Amino acid sequence: MCGIFGYSGKGNAPEIVVNGLKRLEYRGYDSWGIAYQKKNKIVLYKKAGEIGNFTCSRIIPKAPIAIGHTRWATHGRATKLNAHPHESVDGRFVLAQNGIVENFQELKSKLISKGYKFNSETDTEIIVRLVEDNLKKSDCLLEAVRLAFLDLKGRNTIILLERDKKHIVAVRNGSPLVLGIGGDGIYFASDTLSFADQTDRVIFLNDFEMAEYDNGKLRLFDVNSGEEILYKEKKLPQNSAGIGKEGYDHYMLKEIVEQKHTVREAVQYSQSELRPLIQAIKTAKNIYVVGAGTAGFAAGQIAFFLRKYGGIHAIELKSCEAGSYRNLFSKDDIVIAVSQSGETADTIETIEFAKEKGAKIGSVVNMIGSTITRMSDYGFLSRSGPEICVASTKAFTAQISWGLLIAKAVVGKYEEAKQSIYFLSEILQKFFDQKLFIQIQEIARRMVNIEHCFVLGKGQNSNIATEGALKIKEITYKHFEGFPAGELKHGVIALIEKDTPVISIVSNDDDKADLYSAVSEVKARGAWTIGVAKSKNDLFDDSIILRDAGIADPILNVIPFQLLSYFLGVKLGNNPDKPRNLAKSVTVK
Ligand code: AGP
Repeated sequence: MCGIFGYSGKGNAPEIVVNGLKRLEYRGYDSWGIAYQKKNKIVLYKKAGEIGNFTCSRIIPKAPIAIGHTRWATHGRATKLNAHPHESVDGRFVLAQNGIVENFQELKSKLISKGYKFNSETDTEIIVRLVEDNLKKSDCLLEAVRLAFLDLKGRNTIILLERDKKHIVAVRNGSPLVLGIGGDGIYFASDTLSFADQTDRVIFLNDFEMAEYDNGKLRLFDVNSGEEILYKEKKLPQNSAGIGKEGYDHYMLKEIVEQKHTVREAVQYSQSELRPLIQAIKTAKNIYVVGAGTAGFAAGQIAFFLRKYGGIHAIELKSCEAGSYRNLFSKDDIVIAVSQSGETADTIETIEFAKEKGAKIGSVVNMIGSTITRMSDYGFLSRSGPEICVASTKAFTAQISWGLLIAKAVVGKYEEAKQSIYFLSEILQKFFDQKLFIQIQEIARRMVNIEHCFVLGKGQNSNIATEGALKIKEITYKHFEGFPAGELKHGVIALIEKDTPVISIVSNDDDKADLYSAVSEVKARGAWTIGVAKSKNDLFDDSIILRDAGIADPILNVIPFQLLSYFLGVKLGNNPDKPRNLAKSVTVK
């Protein structure tokens, strides 16, 4: 996690870096800092907490070169002292990092035995001291950084600014790093969105590549050999810059409402574009669908669709657990990775295991040019546009819409799936009205003081129940738990007492009767029963009635949970876009 941004060129670099960091705050917002050149010094400006509305005017002077960092704390508390960038003892350079130095303790002990001292609690300072140590042997900063980087274990991306010249060095391994080539200057950043309004010319760095910008000249190197490498610019698609709130109070609500279009965008693949993946699925020995968090539930839903509609024995795996099954991956398998960011460390690691065994990789990712996309044999984009709110909403529904298309395409029913998503999109055109908002706000008002809530689903709505509950946990910090309705009587029912809220998801399908039995059982114990259903039923104290979206019904059913999460979170005074302790892109393990 953490966001890195650097700029050198015409214009006011500190202001450009602060604006870039604001766009990267979804990656972490515990603390932030920037470093810029002033006369023959590097000046650091750091703060604990979010950047908020900070502007440089009157605080930070104009400068031609600067780097910055927004942090999600791993080693050391979220204090000003631990905020990046960190400075070398002689002030020659500053460094910011995204990642974790896994051999942190070993390196620190070695450096301490050599007499080095540390000011912060971070693992970042280890890298600073390693570079300093290498500079004692040779005065070349680039070489000192390269050698230090080779000593690091774990996924790390770093950026350095040197004091005496216009010199930025950045190195990537695991955590993302992309360069933007503008008419007026060069950008170094953790994603393309942070500078997409300035330039669409980009260079994606691969792992173990380093970039040096020295007095107007850009060069790329292979970290292992130290040799210079050629690079290729790419062009970003036109719509990649749109990341305003467009009149909404929060990105979360904007992104929820956008689903009326984004589900449709996700299925804009022709049959011939899908064919190679479909063929690979049909011929694979094993099909694994993997993801983490919300993307993990999307992976579960895609696997469900493949089993139910594609007749394919697809297996879902949580990315963080997939390592335990690495012995099972073979060259005859396909792994389909699901991810919004395309940078999630657990998911990338699973892909690496699978690739080592020769398995093929398919993916559905939202972020253009991300690592997972570039690791994939069959890479697809979920095409939801930038998702800024830390809690994923539109990316989830896009991923599962795409999954439905794939599952049906496997059995030659591509058109049926596409039409069902178009129908869902039609339903959503009139979905987000005042009546629904008022009803969900009223339920949210009555939930302000609850501690727990259970969400029941079955079959096609099982992953929807778990994702619905996760969404509400993330934004409200309340304990919502989703699980298959049939599991209730095997344990969780012990927790049901008078007024315990239980939300049940009921589609017009074969599981309806089982759902009603579960609702009866909790009602008999005094639960407050809420239905997300197609029609009213006396078993429900409150009902959120939705239209029947046919095979796309589970996609529709998650939306009331997203809205409840948003309205309850706002009522509780939380910032739905930046929930506590979370970051959007989890690039550490
Ligand atoms: C979603 O609301 C969460 N912030 C989180 O669970 C997320 O889905 C997970 O970290 C995976 O991220 P990815 O989709 O970028 O891979």
